[in-house]
Formats: sequence, structure tokens, C-alpha cells
Amino acid sequence: MEFEQNKVIDESKQGEATVLPTNETSGNKKLYVESYGCAMNFSDSEVVASIMAKEGYSTTRNVDEADVILINTCSIRENAETRVRTRLGDLKIKKKENPDLVIGILGCMAERLKTALLEEEKLVDLVAGPDAYRDLPNLIEEVGTGQKAVNVLLSRDETYADISPVRLDKGGVSAFVSITRGCDNMCSFCVVPFTRGRERSRDPKTIVEECKTLFANGYREVTLLGQNVDSYRWNLTSKGVVKDATIPTTNFAELMEMVAHVSPDLRVRFSTSHPKDMTDDVLHVMEKYENICSNIHLPVQSGNSAVLARMNRGYSREWYLDRIHAIRSIVTDCAISTDMIIGFCGETEDEHQQTLSLMDEVTFDFAYMYKYSERPKTLAERKFEDDVPEEIKGKRLSEIVEKQRSHSHLWNKKQLGRIDKVLIEGFSKKSEEHLCGRNSRNSMVIFPKDNFKKGQYVMVKITDCTSATLLGEVVEICSTNP
Ligand code: SAH
Ligand code: SF4
Ligand code: F3S
Repeated sequence: MEFEQNKVIDESKQGEATVLPTNETSGNKKLYVESYGCAMNFSDSEVVASIMAKEGYSTTRNVDEADVILINTCSIRENAETRVRTRLGDLKIKKKENPDLVIGILGCMAERLKTALLEEEKLVDLVAGPDAYRDLPNLIEEVGTGQKAVNVLLSRDETYADISPVRLDKGGVSAFVSITRGCDNMCSFCVVPFTRGRERSRDPKTIVEECKTLFANGYREVTLLGQNVDSYRWNLTSKGVVKDATIPTTNFAELMEMVAHVSPDLRVRFSTSHPKDMTDDVLHVMEKYENICSNIHLPVQSGNSAVLARMNRGYSREWYLDRIHAIRSIVTDCAISTDMIIGFCGETEDEHQQTLSLMDEVTFDFAYMYKYSERPKTLAERKFEDDVPEEIKGKRLSEIVEKQRSHSHLWNKKQLGRIDKVLIEGFSKKSEEHLCGRNSRNSMVIFPKDNFKKGQYVMVKITDCTSATLLGEVVEICSTNP
């Protein structure tokens, strides 16, 4: 029997692989949204669906019945953009069949390429950057008058905090909740600061309210999203100075605690943590609350300090290992996952070997691994040469992928015999006789379905594993049917 992968250990996953057509909501005109890239984009598509719902648009999963098609795009690596271009190629036929069809590009490619997109992709009618979604109804109206419409203004304060997102995975148990937008870090390889603009945090009250609503609607897990969740701050400047003495300040550790209080039955996850900013306070809060999951995604990018300095990451190998040590000593049984880039500008064989040795020191549960892909306008593009030959990149990537595969398998084997609390997410992809869900450490667990239901918590004894999935059987039910 085959089981689904919960974690893909290659470079295809984060940043470009997700294509998420929307579920259906009611309304006269039909909107089809497809999201590429990271969870932020998926979360933004829900904001977009909400803005469009107010204009009488219902979402559809059937692209053929759409009046408006919006593609929410990613620019993180070159192949992320290539995928979108290929998809636009497919849509040419639809536009020919129905010239009134509106095709819009949202997200990071829209922001990066701006009006050039209209010239390069003739079928595109509308281009809207990540901070311009409130303007979508006007832009669509403009297209209706026969013009092309563009808004790529970035904002210093837009957080869409007042918009309650339309959940596109209706009946789901797990939802994304954005807590910050943008990024101020300027890692030299990264396009995000250019496509998403300055970092800003969302009012904690609106975050907690959104989580309460989700819980009331049957959701049992939230993932708090930010490019760097550890730099979340409310009513504080970047230097830590209080802005308004009459209202309380909130940092990420405090925010997590507020969300953990929504209900002991609402699981809390978060992504992404930044090694330079992750404090012990955050780790102590994780340890204190059973409903905050024991999983930290802490991208290392490279195991060599000189490469990290070229990447402008703001930490060294030693600093990173100190943070790993802090996690292991404060949070019981915490899964640690990471992102790595191989073949960054000037990376020598020795430097690459240090990434491999860091992997051995940490033994990550799971990793997303990428070949470096040069992005226009980034610091690296301006300062360094993308000089590691493609075949060496390929060889180095397969070395880290191979090592990670064995580490993931090792971790999964260590979980054999454990009894884990699992939140049921639905049927296993490969079999309707099996259900799947995650444990606190974010490992996917598959077990026979019996009479268990989506949204229930069950205790599962882990009996077998592959390098990507755990197999088990339910030994106890923790909550009644939702
Ligand atoms: N904000 C997160 C990462 C967001 S992008 C953080 O700082 O960790 C997700 C991942 O894509 C990054 O961690 C990095 O590993 C990878 N990535 C970003 N830019 C890249 C590039 N130019 N080439 C290859 N991988 C890249
Ligand atoms: Fe990009 Fe660095 Fe910001 Fe992450 S922290 S989004 S890698 S600039
Ligand atoms: Fe891609 Fe933009 Fe996310 S570049 S990874 S969609 S922030």
C-alpha cells in the first residue's frame, strides 16, 4: 500500500509548488483564484475572495465557468515564475473562447514585474500587488471599460486586519492567520522585501478575534504566518520604544500566549522563525502550553559563517547552533525543520561540507532544500556572481537531499511505539479507508478510519513508518465529534 507524503524533501515544495484552486461560495459572478507560492499567498487569496464576495463574486473550482481568473503568483525562484508563465499559456485558449473573461495577476510576480507583465503576457488584463487588493473591484471595473488596470503600490500600514477572510477550504480544520506582512531583513538572495515591502504587524486584537471565529466555525488549528514571526511587535518601534503609552505592547511570545488562550482545543502553529530573532521567551511559552505545537521551522540556509555573512542573514553557524541548543533544552521533544540553499555565490566545496556537517550536528526532522536561483535587483545579484556551475549545484543538492532523507527516516523510526495526539484532517490521499492528521511535531500520521471524523483529536500509537509518513492505530479518543 502507498501512503501520501507529508513532507517533500526536494526543491519543489515551498515557494512554488502549491496550486490551490478555491472552493465554492455563493454570488452571481464567478471568481476563480489559483495560488502559487507560500502560505502567505494562500492566506492573501482568502482576503481577495472576501473583498470580491462583497462585490457579488462567488468562488468556483471550475475555471471554465469563471468571469474573473486571478492567479496569485510567486517570484522566489526563477522556476516559480516559469510555472506561472506556463499556466498563462494554458489560459490563452480560454481567453480566445471568451474575450470578456478577465485575467489578473496578483502577488509577488505582479509586484516585481509591474506593467512589464502586461507587455510580456498579452492576455493579462490586470496586475495587482500584495498591498493593492482592496482596489481589485475598481481595477476590474477599469478593465470593463476596455483598459488594462495596474496597482502595485506598496503600503507601510496595510495589514487587511479588518477583513475577515473567506475560508477557501470550506469545512477545514486548519487555517492560516497572517500576523505580519512584508520583511525588513534584506537577505541578499531574497526577492521578498521587494515584492512585499516593509514589515508591519497586525493588531493583536484582530488576530485573536479571527482565531476565535475560526474555532467557533469548527477549525481546530491555526498557523500564525509571517516572513519572520519573531519580529512581530505591536505598539513598539523596531528599537523597542513604546509608541503609545495608553495601549499595551505585544511581542511574538505574548501574542502566541494570547492565541493559546482562545481554547485548549485550538492548536497553535507558527511560521517562519528567524534564527537571529528567536528568543528564549518564545520557547518558554511553547513549553508552557500543550496546545502550542512542538515544531519550529528555523531556516538555516547554510552551515558556513562566511556564506551566511554573504547572505546577510545576521547570524553565524555558532549562533544558529546556540539557538538549536536553546530549543532542545527548553522545549520538550521539539521537531526542528529548516530551509537550505546550496550553490550560493562563491560557495566552495569546504563551505558546502560545513552545511552537511551542520546537518549532522542538528539532525533536522525535515528540510526544504533549494539550488540558489539569482533574483533580479537583490543584493546578491548586484554584488556577487552566481558562479557555482549548474552541475555542481545539482551534485550538492543531491548530497543534502540524501542526508536529509536519512535523517527524516531516523526521526520517524524514533517515533515508533509512541502514542501521539493527532488532529484528524481528513482522508488519507491514497485511501478512503484511512484517515490522516498531524501530531504536535508536524509529522503526518495515517491510520484506519473506523468511525473517526475530521476535526477530532485522537491518540494514535505509531506502529510503522516511511521516511515521510508515520502509520498507526487509534488507541483513545480525546474529543467528541465536532
Ligand atoms: N522568510 C523566510 C523564508 C521565505 S522564502 C525566512 O527568512 O526563513 C522560503 C525559502 O526560499 C527561504 O528560506 C530560502 O531557503 C528559499 N529561497 C529564497 N530565495 C531564494 C533564492 N533566490 N534561491 C533559492 N532559494 C531561495
Ligand atoms: Fe527573505 Fe530573509 Fe525576509 Fe526571509 S527573512 S523573507 S529570506 S529577506
Ligand atoms: Fe513567493 Fe512571494 Fe511567498 S515570492 S514565497 S509568494 S512572499
